[in-house]
Formats: sequence, structure tokens, C-alpha cells
Amino acid sequence: TDIFPGRRNSAGVDLADPLVREPLLDRLAALDAREWGAAPTVVAEAAGAADRTRPVMSPHDGTLVGHVLEAEPADVDAMLARGTAAQIAWDGAGGEYRARLLERAADLFEEHTDEILELCRREAGKTLPDAVLELREAVDFLRFYAQEARRHFTGNGLLLPGPTGEENRLRLHGRGLFVTISPWNFPLAIFIGPAAAALAAGNSVIAKPAEQTPLIAAFAVQLCHAAGIPDDVLQLAPGDGRVGGMLTGDPRVAGVAFTGSTATAHLINRALAMRPGPIGQFIAETGGQNALIVDSSALPEQVTRDVMSSAFQSAGQRCSALRVLYLQEDIADSMLAMIRGAFDALQIGDPALLATDVGPVIDRQAQGQLNDHLAEMRVAGRNVWQAVVPPTCAHGSYVAPAIVEIDAIGDLQAENFGPVLHVARFRAGQLADVVEQINATGYGLTLGLHSRIEGNRRLVERRARVGNFYVNRNQIGAVVGSQPFGGEGLSGTGPKAGGPHYLARFATERVTTVDT
Ligand code: NAD
Ligand code: ALA
Repeated sequence: TDIFPGRRNSAGVDLADPLVREPLLDRLAALDAREWGAAPTVVAEAAGAADRTRPVMSPHDGTLVGHVLEAEPADVDAMLARGTAAQIAWDGAGGEYRARLLERAADLFEEHTDEILELCRREAGKTLPDAVLELREAVDFLRFYAQEARRHFTGNGLLLPGPTGEENRLRLHGRGLFVTISPWNFPLAIFIGPAAAALAAGNSVIAKPAEQTPLIAAFAVQLCHAAGIPDDVLQLAPGDGRVGGMLTGDPRVAGVAFTGSTATAHLINRALAMRPGPIGQFIAETGGQNALIVDSSALPEQVTRDVMSSAFQSAGQRCSALRVLYLQEDIADSMLAMIRGAFDALQIGDPALLATDVGPVIDRQAQGQLNDHLAEMRVAGRNVWQAVVPPTCAHGSYVAPAIVEIDAIGDLQAENFGPVLHVARFRAGQLADVVEQINATGYGLTLGLHSRIEGNRRLVERRARVGNFYVNRNQIGAVVGSQPFGGEGLSGTGPKAGGPHYLARFATERVTTVDT
């Protein structure tokens, strides 16, 4: 039975139904001309603010999506003071009150489906099916953490009386002011998810979105404020890593929930350790070097389908995405031929078109890094198959999806965050060794296995040091409450987003003992 009774996830948008899809496409097209904006919740020095705005461009074609005013030190300082002052009342308002506001925000997100899908498409280059999944996940996080607020933060907390009959109560409280720092690849779901958890637990929040996607974040914060979450309890601090550094180095911050690269997590961990003041709570959800192992008992059509979605959906820009496919030697040639057949059929292009499978990567920098990696692989003599980007995408940050043959996962130095699938081979009897090679990367986010052999599943499950292990399915798209998500080792500090223990990480425990 479900440990979350009564939980319901969002129904999303049924794109297969033409009566839903066609009017939606018309409404999105009508929104194309809209210019969006983002600014810090507090702009301390309004003079000169106009000179500080920066245009935000679409990764598909470089056209203008909107403008962002990035936070300056004075704005950050004012928000830190406001957020600190607001926290005590928010904590005291109780779990039920906070849950209702988060649920109202979830309803508003659904009511504003059109704007959210449009922003995901234009600012982040998401295909429409990906944008729908993004919205669903965001709504699910809001409702799930609301329900979790009721579970953890209501009730009397009574414990067994002590030996002299005294009354003991254990209660959870917010830790104080939390900073949430998020990546661009889930600009709505992972922007709002950790913020919602921190709020549900009674913390005030300053949310710093990725510099590539401030507009979606600003829209989400507007909806939360419209739902009744006070604007000193949830504040927005757009900007790049410098703004993140100003926040994480400040002793007023009780904790940081970060999602992004492993390298940035190390920097934040150091900043928290070096500042004076309280010992900060640090929750980090970071990168992966995710593998899928396919043995000779696997079903080839199922493998092909799952490899294509795991490696190429969202242009490979998911932390969960498949990076290294391990094929058992006996079936490797035939399996690779099937995968290449499906690969050749991938549609690359404008995320506004429903036929598109692979849209752009987030920006020119990501495009350059991925192309450099492919060039290095070629120089190293690897076999590389690469698709072709259509000429209509010449103004965007597109990377042609690729398949690269390697010897082992250890040949890769870093996470390659895009539509690049690496393929290695192993011989029967080497399964345990393959798992050791994967463990040796130090990452531990997702791992897939396609096998009909029970003993192989048990072996991998027992040995793999990984947060999310998927058997005979794809390895992306963890569902809130059903597949709590998060990794270990270089992939994160361990708490699972959308899981039963997540909220407690944002809280502190207090015990009151009264002698009657
Ligand atoms: P990134 O580390 O470059 O940036 C993430 C955030 O950190 C951004 O908001 C950025 O401005 C901020 N930042 C950068 N330097 C900082 C500093 N010194 N101090 C404070 N904040 C700073 O990551 P990205 O490129 O935006 O995102 C992609 C990465 O995120 C990939 O590695 C991916 O695997 C990872 N990711 C992990 C998960 C997960 O749940 N494990 C989910 C999504 C993405
Ligand atoms: N939770 C996201 C997924 O599973 C990252 O793909």
C-alpha cells in the first residue's frame, strides 16, 4: 500500500486529444509575441536599475524572450534581512496553513498552463511533451510537500511520559531562512520543488534560479504570491553564480538546497563551511554518469525504446539521462543496429513543432562543450555516429545527437550534459566487474538494467551504489511520491526529492518537557 494515502498526481495535459491539443497550440502561438520579465523581489537601489537589465534569448533561434534585472549586493542584503524577519511568523502559522497556500499555488500553476508551457518552450527550449511533464512535476511537488507538511507539522507531538510523569513533546520547526539554488534544465519543477519543501517546513526562502532561466522562475514566484505566500517569505534573487555566492556566504542563511553540477556543490559546501555563524544545512542534488546494462536475455525492442528516451529525450539534458550503455557482447551488434535504426529516425528541430524529438541545448556554451567532447572522441579514434541538424536551426544552440563507442565508462572524464550516448561492451561473466567500473566513477544517480535473469538483477541491486535503479524500463522521469529521486557520492548528499524523508531535512527538532 502507498505510504502516502490519498495522494493524487496532476493529470497534466492530454496532447494526444486533438480537442485539447489544437486549441492549446493556437493559444501558445498567440503568446509568442509576449515579452516576459524578471527582477529581484527587492530592488534596493532603483536608480540605475534599467541599465542592469539583460535580455534573455531563446535557445531555438536567438530571438528575445524577455528581460531580467539581476540582483546586486544591496538587493541581496535587503532580501536577507526581510527573509530572516519573516521566518518566525511563517513557522508559527503551522503546517495546515502552509499546506493550504502551497495547494492554492498548485491550482494556480494549473490555471496558468498556457503561460508556463510557453515559457518552458521559449526560454528553456523544451519540446511541448517535455514542458507538460515539467508542469506536472512542479504541481506534484507543491501538492506532495503540502501533504507532507500536514504529516510532519501538525499533531501534538506527544511522546511517552518520563519516569516522574512529565509531559514530553517533540515538534519540528523551520530552520530559519533557506536559500534554494536551481539549474536551468528543470527551470520550473526543480526551481519550485526545493523551495516548496523549505516553505512547507516553516522556512522563509530566497530562491535563486539559473541565470539561463529567470523568466519562468519569476512567473512561478508571482503565482505563489498570488496564492497568498507572503512576498517576504518567498523572495526571488535572479543572477548568476555571484548572486549564489553572496547568499551562501552569509551567516543569516540557515541552509542551502542546491541542484546543479557537482563542481558548484563543492564550491557552496566550502562557502558554507568558511562563513562565521551557525553550521548550515546543505542539501545537494548533483550530476551523474548514468549507465544502463543490457544482458543477452533482454527484449531488444524494449531496450531500443528505453535507450532512445533515456539518452535523447530533453536533448539528453536530464541529470538522470543515460550516458553509457553497456551491451553484452553476444547481442551487441544486433542491438546496436536496432538502436541506430531508431536514432536515424530522430527528428531534430524547433521545439514548437509537435513532431520534434530533440530540441536545442540550453546555450552556446553547452553547445561548444558538447561539440568539443565529440571532437576529442574522434581524435581519440572512437567510432562516432552523428545525426544532422537541419539548416532551419542555424541560429540556435543545437547539437546533433551522437552515438560514440568507448571501451569502458572510465574513458569519460566528466558528465556530458546533452544528446550523446556512449556505448561499451562486456562479456558474459563480467557483470560484477561492470558494476564495479560504474561505482568507480564516484557518481551514483541513476542506473538501468535490462535483463530477464533474476540473479543478475539481484547482483546489480546488491552491488550498485546508486540512488535510483530502474529494471526493464527507461531511467528518466521519476514521479513525485512514486520514485523519490536523488543520488549519492558525487551525485548528491542523499535526500530524495518527492520522498518521505525530504521535508525533515529542512527542519530542526525541538523537545519540550513539562513536569506536571
Ligand atoms: P551549475 O552548477 O552550473 O548551476 C546551478 C546553479 O548554481 C545555478 O543557479 C548557478 O547560477 C548557481 N551557481 C553557480 N556557481 C555558484 C556559486 N559559486 N555559488 C552558488 N551558486 C552558484 O549547473 P547547471 O548547468 O545549471 O545544471 C546542470 C547540472 O545540474 C548537471 O550537472 C545536472 O546533472 C545537474 N542536475 C542534477 C539534478 C539532480 O536532481 N541530481 C537535477 C537536475 C540537474
Ligand atoms: N527527476 C528527473 C528525472 O527523473 C530528473 O528525469
